[in-house]
Amino acid sequence: MRILVLGSGAREHAIILALRSERTEHEIFAAPGNAGIAQDAVVVALDADDPAAVTEYANGQHIDLVVIGPEAPLVAGVADALRERGIPVFGPGRAAAQLEGSKTFAKRIMDAAGVPTGRAVRAHTVDEVAAALDELGAPHVVKADGLAAGKGVIVTDDREAALAHAAQYLGPAPVLVEEYLGGPEVSLFFLSDGDHVLPLSPAQDYKRLRDGDEGPNTGGMGAYSPLPWLLEQFGGEDAFVDLVTTTIAEPVIHQLDAEGTPFIGLLYAGLVLTPQGVKVIEFNARFGDPETQVVLPRLVDPLSELLLAAASGHLEDFSRPAFAEATAVSVVLASEGYPSAPITGRLLTGLDAAAAVEGVHLAHAATGRSDEGVVATGGRVLNVVAVGTTFAESTSRAYSALAKIGLDGGQYRTDIAARVVED
Ligand code: AMP
Ligand code: GLY
Repeated sequence: MRILVLGSGAREHAIILALRSERTEHEIFAAPGNAGIAQDAVVVALDADDPAAVTEYANGQHIDLVVIGPEAPLVAGVADALRERGIPVFGPGRAAAQLEGSKTFAKRIMDAAGVPTGRAVRAHTVDEVAAALDELGAPHVVKADGLAAGKGVIVTDDREAALAHAAQYLGPAPVLVEEYLGGPEVSLFFLSDGDHVLPLSPAQDYKRLRDGDEGPNTGGMGAYSPLPWLLEQFGGEDAFVDLVTTTIAEPVIHQLDAEGTPFIGLLYAGLVLTPQGVKVIEFNARFGDPETQVVLPRLVDPLSELLLAAASGHLEDFSRPAFAEATAVSVVLASEGYPSAPITGRLLTGLDAAAAVEGVHLAHAATGRSDEGVVATGGRVLNVVAVGTTFAESTSRAYSALAKIGLDGGQYRTDIAARVVED
């Protein structure tokens, strides 16, 4: 197949590596890509957010499947334009992508579908925010309604801080005051063709910058999969995945279909395992980053066939994807100053030595080439991904590989997957 992958992060690199690991050889194109992706795909200079440019390119190059990585092209209507031209695309249209972009839309769909989530109040003024905070109680959760790159949410016991956060985002659009959902968080992905869904294997990510879940929220500093502790609570991964498929993913997909906005692509359910049951914190309309980097290396079935089946409405012909028993861990290396003001342009060393560690590969996020070699071009620079039999093995492989990489001021967490490493 000739496959075009849109995006430039470690998630897109992970997708490309999964496509390349298949027995069938594909011709893979990436836009805009990065220095790591350039080693595994043909990088093309194309504005991934421009529906007309992407459609022209895909048409001219006889692309069989377009895979959209990030949310920006979805919101820009790239999937709609491709679908109109009859080009198979994995990624929802603009209307269905609101499931991620508009928290109000997502809550309405969940209510209509009877999907468990926290209570939420739309507040238009500071007084309404104050009343909602008092009604729902502490800890307080206030969210901006719209894409805010992870910065729109505050979770705090401090009522004044919650009010100040709300004031910052209040404007023509209201803010959402939400019930706090306490418990372990799980990310679970579903492939959808608009009607049928197939679940992938769950993962957990680490959103805070520093060890022990301290420091500011980030795009994600690491992840692991599978989640062995699901055994105690649910009797195993399959039982958990079945529950979320039937009570959350299928009702939401059917609701969107019934409203004339079918969701074709990746439904990302951000879940909290509360004492009252599994509840949805958020949906995303795309693969998660960094969770994809630990889910796809365990996928046994050919990714290209699953994505094409979803894109062309044939998912019902496929059975649930199989995953290897192996463990996978991903640790993100970030630039100094990330997330507020990352310092870029610094040289990376030791990449080949790191990738040579058994069971390890690198998924590049923000890397580019200079005369001296590979340099960091953004906040999250790359993921060191390790696969092993046990989590003790995969984490030790990941961290020994990380120790070989040089980046001045580079930051990473040292406790990724620590909770699942057997003594
Ligand atoms: P979001 O932007 O909705 O993904 O929220 C980012 C993070 O904030 C989530 O992953 C949670 O850790 C936290 N969070 C968001 N909403 C809630 C909530 N209702 N209760 C508890 N934590 C939340
Ligand atoms: N891992 C969080 C996200 O992709 O939004």
